[in-house]
Amino acid sequence: KQTITVGLLGLGTVGGGVIEILRDHKERIQHKTGCDVTIKSVLVSDLSKTRDLPTSSTTLTDQYEDITRDPEIDVIVEVMGGIDHTLTILLEAIEHGKHIVTANKDLIAQHGAELFDACQKRNCDLYYEASVAGGIPIIRSILDGLSSDRIRKMMGIVNGTTNYIMTKMSQDGADFDSILKEAQDLGFAEADPTADVDGLDAARKMTILSILGFSMPFNLEDVEVKGIRGLSLSDIKYAEELGYRIKLIGIAENDDSGVSVSVEPALLPIHHPLSNVNDEFNAVYVYGDAVGETMFYGPGAGKLPTATAVVSDLIAVLKNIRLGTTGTAYVQPQFPKQVKPKSE
Ligand code: NDP
Ligand code: HSE
Repeated sequence: KQTITVGLLGLGTVGGGVIEILRDHKERIQHKTGCDVTIKSVLVSDLSKTRDLPTSSTTLTDQYEDITRDPEIDVIVEVMGGIDHTLTILLEAIEHGKHIVTANKDLIAQHGAELFDACQKRNCDLYYEASVAGGIPIIRSILDGLSSDRIRKMMGIVNGTTNYIMTKMSQDGADFDSILKEAQDLGFAEADPTADVDGLDAARKMTILSILGFSMPFNLEDVEVKGIRGLSLSDIKYAEELGYRIKLIGIAENDDSGVSVSVEPALLPIHHPLSNVNDEFNAVYVYGDAVGETMFYGPGAGKLPTATAVVSDLIAVLKNIRLGTTGTAYVQPQFPKQVKPKSE
């Protein structure tokens, strides 16, 4: 049996879930991959917090070079968040030949291509299934399961926090601020929850889906974004009286004249399947020329669903290492960028 050594960047909600799944599913992972996984070091920002570390020999550090430059570490699992500083860390890790698994949609939406290029040059893996729709394997489905098709449209709920807030406002009459606080306590919200509330988190996810689904370069700035700030209980109640539910919907479309992507609150008929996606759950419709309509549904945020995606990516890396190959969930876009102007 081969032992693969991991450096974990971040030990918050998702990092805690990664440790839990690696511990609880140890034998399953050994069986699937022929590998043992050891988390050698963990990067955090506050060394004084009490931590549940995977083993007594796991070291805690606040210096990323302890991990990126450690020759014993094979794989970096990045679950700390952040963009510029995190990009620097991951590029340095790749330079040192480390494979990368990340849950960081902010980073992938903006710098996915750069990370991919760096990984290709160094024969390193790059996987990021957790970056879109938490526990739903939507990235694999688009890149593998539907790879023979031409995807025309992707539409759905891709932010758990706002869906949780709107569900609780609708079902319990709860007020916006107290429910946002609850979503933060449950570990659904981003470190800066304005990214959830103002639609930016959903826009980042739709950017990633658009690049992969349409095989075309696409920028976050091209998304038309409107969040749910200012949404009141009376808006929700009034919509329901008229037979509608308000949901924050991402839509990415590619017709022959180009791509358009938006995120905004939409009124959906109360019996529409997306109207009945509740709490932190997500659902994404994917329409292809050949397959027609498919729908993917599941938990979109939270400790264990997200960590399931992260550890499944880690398993993909372990299999690649065993096979002596490399892999990535990124694609070199096949088509030139063709984006429709925004409609403001
Ligand atoms: P948390 O805020 O719970 O945890 C972040 C962890 O990273 C903490 O341990 C923190 O250290 C550490 N950290 C943050 N910044 C730094 C830094 N500059 N240097 C060193 N350590 C740092 O975040 P989550 O676990 O919720 O999210 C992690 C990532 O996963 C994010 O990219 C997020 O977008 C993504 N994600 C989260 C989901 C969720 O449901 N929560 C779902 C899908 C993706 P310390 O403990 O000392 O504060
Ligand atoms: N804050 C994100 C959400 C986490 O609520 O959807 C999952 O990406």
